[in-house]
Amino acid sequence: MTALPACWQIGRGRPDRISDGRDGSVVEIHGVAIDRVGPDLAVLEACLTGDERARGARFRRHEDRTRFVVGRALLRRELSRRLCVEPDEIPIVIGPAGKPFVAWPNGSCPWRFNLSHSGRMVLVAIGSVELGVDVEEIVADRRAAAIARQFFAGEEVQAIESQPPECRRAAFFTTWTRKEAVLKAIGSGLRAPLDTVQVPVVSGPSSSLLAGPLEAVVGCWSLWHIPIGADHVAALAVRGPVSRLRLVSHDLDGEQFEESDGVSPGACA
Ligand SMILES: CC(C)(COP(=O)(O)OP(=O)(O)OC[C@H]1O[C@@H](n2cnc3c(N)ncnc32)[C@H](O)[C@@H]1OP(=O)(O)O)[C@@H](O)C(=O)NCCC(=O)NCCS
Repeated sequence: MTALPACWQIGRGRPDRISDGRDGSVVEIHGVAIDRVGPDLAVLEACLTGDERARGARFRRHEDRTRFVVGRALLRRELSRRLCVEPDEIPIVIGPAGKPFVAWPNGSCPWRFNLSHSGRMVLVAIGSVELGVDVEEIVADRRAAAIARQFFAGEEVQAIESQPPECRRAAFFTTWTRKEAVLKAIGSGLRAPLDTVQVPVVSGPSSSLLAGPLEAVVGCWSLWHIPIGADHVAALAVRGPVSRLRLVSHDLDGEQFEESDGVSPGACA
C-alpha cells in the first residue's frame, strides 16, 4: 500500500494578506488513496443511500466505482460526525447547476462540502463557507497544449510554455485544477468556460490569484495549492480567507491514520 506523502501539511492562511479584516474559515480536506482501501467495498457502501449504491453499480470499471463509492462514503462519514445523523440518512441533493449540497430540514446546513477524484486519489473538502476542490492525476496527454491554447487565458498559456519542457505537464494540470476548483466553488462546474477565471500557474501573492471576466464575483475567493505528491495535483478554492487548513488522510478500513499540522509551504494564498 502506498502512503500519502509526508508533505500533507496543515496550512495556515495569511489573513493579513486578505483585506476584509474578518477571521478566516477553518477548512478540512480529507483524502484517501484508493489503494489504501481494502477489497471489500460493501462496508463503505453501507454509508451510501440506495440511489448512490445503484449509481455505483452502474460503473463499468472497478476503479471508477471505487472512486465514487469511496468519495461518497468519506463525505457521508465526515458529515455524519458533524451533524450527528447516520451517514446514509444525510439528505444530499443536487443544486440547480449540479453542485451537491446538504438539504437540511430546518434551515441551512452549517457545512459546505465539495469532492473530487482522479487517478488513485479521492479528496473531500468541508468547511462552513462555500468551497470547491479539484484533483487531477498528472498523466501524459498529447492534447494538453491544444486544450490550453483553446481554453486557457493567454497569460496562462505563456506561463505554461515558459516552463522547462519536463515541467509543462504538471503546469498544465496545476492550471486546470485551480480553474476547476474555482468553478466548482462557484457551483457552475465546467458548464462555465475555463477562461471565466484566470489563475496563476505558479504560486504568487494572493492579489494575483484570480482575475478575468468574473473578477468581481471571484475576487472574494482564496485559492490554495494542496500538496499531494508528485503524480497528482490538487487545488482548493474557498469563499473568503482561510485561517486554518487541516489535511487528514484516511484508511477507510480503519480510522484516520495520519493527520498533519503546521504551515503549508504549498499554500498560495
Ligand atoms: C462536475 C464536474 C465539475 C466534475 O469534474 P471532474 O473533474 O470530472 O470530476 P471531479 O471528481 O473533480 O468532481 C466530481 C464531483 O464534483 C461534484 N460536483 C458535481 N457537479 C458540480 C458542480 N456543478 N459544482 C461543484 N461540484 C460539483 C460531485 O460531488 C462530483 O462527485 P460525485 O458525483 O461522485 O459526488 C464536471 O464534470 C462538470 O462541470 N460537468 C458538467 C458540465 C459537463 O458535463 N460538461 C461536459 C464536460 S466538459
